[in-house]
This record gives sequence, C-alpha cells and structure tokens, in this order.
Amino acid sequence: MRIKPFTLERYFAKYEFSTKYLISSSDCDGYSLDYILKQANQEELSLWNNLKFGYTDSSGSDFLRKAIINQYNYINEDEVKAMTPGEANYALMNILLTKCDEIVCISPAYQSLYQVAESLGAKIKFWKPVKMGEGFYFDTDDLNNLVNENTKLIIINFPHNPTGFVPTITEQQKIVEIASKYNTILFSDEMYHKIVHKPEYDIPSFCDIYENAISLWGMAKSFGLAGMRFGWIASKRTDILNDVVSFKDYLSICNNAAGEVLTTIALNHKDKFIDPNIEKIKKNKAIFVEFVNRHSDLLGFSDTKAGSTAFVRLNFDKNAFDYCEDLVKKTGIMMIPSEMFEYGNSHVRIGFGRENFEEVLGVWEGYIYR
Ligand SMILES: Cc1ncc(COP(=O)(O)O)c(C=O)c1O
Repeated sequence: MRIKPFTLERYFAKYEFSTKYLISSSDCDGYSLDYILKQANQEELSLWNNLKFGYTDSSGSDFLRKAIINQYNYINEDEVKAMTPGEANYALMNILLTKCDEIVCISPAYQSLYQVAESLGAKIKFWKPVKMGEGFYFDTDDLNNLVNENTKLIIINFPHNPTGFVPTITEQQKIVEIASKYNTILFSDEMYHKIVHKPEYDIPSFCDIYENAISLWGMAKSFGLAGMRFGWIASKRTDILNDVVSFKDYLSICNNAAGEVLTTIALNHKDKFIDPNIEKIKKNKAIFVEFVNRHSDLLGFSDTKAGSTAFVRLNFDKNAFDYCEDLVKKTGIMMIPSEMFEYGNSHVRIGFGRENFEEVLGVWEGYIYR
C-alpha cells in the first residue's frame, strides 16, 4: 500500500528535536521512570524487578489487560487488545475497509485517522465543525446528514485534537443513535480521554455504550507517557479485535515487555498521572487567555472544554504556514500551522501541556512586539 507522508509528523520531525521551544505539542511533559516507579506498590515493583525480555502475549499480558479493563464499566479481558495507537488504527482500517467502502471521518483530524482509509481506496465524507464565534462545534445533525446505510465506518475523536471540543453526554447519545440506525461500526479515538477541564465535561468511553464501537486509548496524552509507545483498543466486537491481533503479526507481533509493566503501574495509579496534567493544562490555558486578551486584534480564541490543544485563529498578514516558518526561524518556537491539518491557512494549534508554556509565550510576545 502506498500512503502519503504524514504531514504533521514530518513537520515535527523537521523541528521537534532541533529547535528551542515547542508551543504546539499535544502531549504533556513526559513523566520520569523514577516518578512511575515511585507510584508502584510491592506487587507492581516485583513485576518490574523480575521483568524478563521474552516475547509477550500479542493481546497484552494478563496483568496489563486487568489494569486496562478497570478503566471501563462493561469491558472484560477478552475485549481489550494492547498495541501502539498507530498500529491499532492501521490494522483496523486494513481489516475493516476495502476499495470503495464509504466512511465518515471527523475533520480536521490527526492524519492517520483518514489517510490509511484513503490509501485503501475508501471514499471519505468529512464531518467538519461549524464555527461558533472563534470556537468550533461538531453538530450531530451534520453527522446525521453524512451517515446512511452505505456507511461502513464512522471515525471520531473526542476530546478532539486540535479543537479541544468534546460533546455533551446527550450529544454523545445522539452519535450512538446515528451509528446504531445502520449498525455502523464506530471507531472512537479517545487518546485524550479524561482530559476534561471541568468534571461535567467527562463522557463515557464509546465502547461502554455502543456494542459496535471500538475505543482507542493510550499512554501518550492523558498519561504524559508519549515515549512509552503504548495503547490499546477496547470493544464488545471481539471478532474485529481478534482480526486486528492477527493482522498485528505482520507489524510488531507483540508489545514491549517493559512498556507493559510501566503502563500497568500508570493505569493502576492513573490519578497521579492524569490529574497533574489537567491542572497544568488549565493553568496554561488561563495564561493564554490573558495573552489573547492583550493581542485580541491578532488572535482569535474561544475557551476549550477538553484535551490539551486549541485551534487559534491568526489575523496576521501572512498565511499560518509562512507565519510559523518565520516564527521558528527568528525565535526557535515551533508552532503548527493549520495547513498541517488540511484545514485552511488561518489557524495554529496551541498545546497547553508543557511546563515552560509561559516562558515560550513570553518569547512569542517579544516577536509580536518586535
Ligand atoms: C487523535 C490522536 N490519535 C492518535 C495519536 C497517536 O498517539 P501516539 O503518539 O501514542 O502514537 C495522536 C497523537 O498526536 C492523536 O492526536
């Protein structure tokens, strides 16, 4: 299969490890190994100390799947399969889709969510947000208009990267009703699950409320463990999950043994990982609101409800890509333009999950005033 380059990841590859500041990352600062092990109880420490680097169960070891199912209400151990998020997405699309299948995918989106499907020859209709002032809103009526009896798969991502949108529970129910009407499979990328800026914005995982939903979650975003390269899919559709594991034999075959233990520790003590991230995101967002207020002629931002990112409108005389290129060259700040999301040229993604956010904003402000 030939596939187009992953534009956003290629842009990161160009600057992420060579430039001084990042202001668009969707992950939070990574926790240290020391921090993870400090949370562990005796039993978990013994797993770590006795770890052997043989092959692991391709579905995920028992202790890991136990820790994963505790994150859901109605999922049992046969209904989760551990793998990297990108691998899950790639395998799922390959086993579910054939040429000319019709699918609906949220947009803007993390490119792999639609690119693998497109490369397989699927016809994609995009569920786009409506603009609400400077904010973004995904209207379920729009989704309803896109889905019909030919829709093989619906792909969504809430909390949403990049807009920070999350539906209410009522809207979530509406999404499930739309999918249920035609028994359509729903692939729900929940990489930012639980990162909600108020407790009332928390919604259940789709796999807990719809039997045809496959939910994806992992360590990179909510848990601040992007370098762990770990995730899983959960679903009542064990037929699909088993096919995914079978496909995985052509990819990683099984998970890395150290990651399984460390992921288990993080899952068993999830508040120690997720809560500090939420606090950091909220603190940085408040700082950003003041920044936008000082530059309201140049920037458009509406408060986000969830996730670690926002899509912010630029009102400069340049398109977003050129603006970001100039910014990184003159200040060392890497900022992601909306061109990387194939979503016009007047927005940038801002990420709130990094400790040095205020410092980087200060450098950006110097550039604005120069
Ligand atoms: C919506 C979404 N899905 C999946 C991923 C991939 O996650 P990971 O870095 O764990 O592969 C990302 C990463 O940015 C993402 O934003």
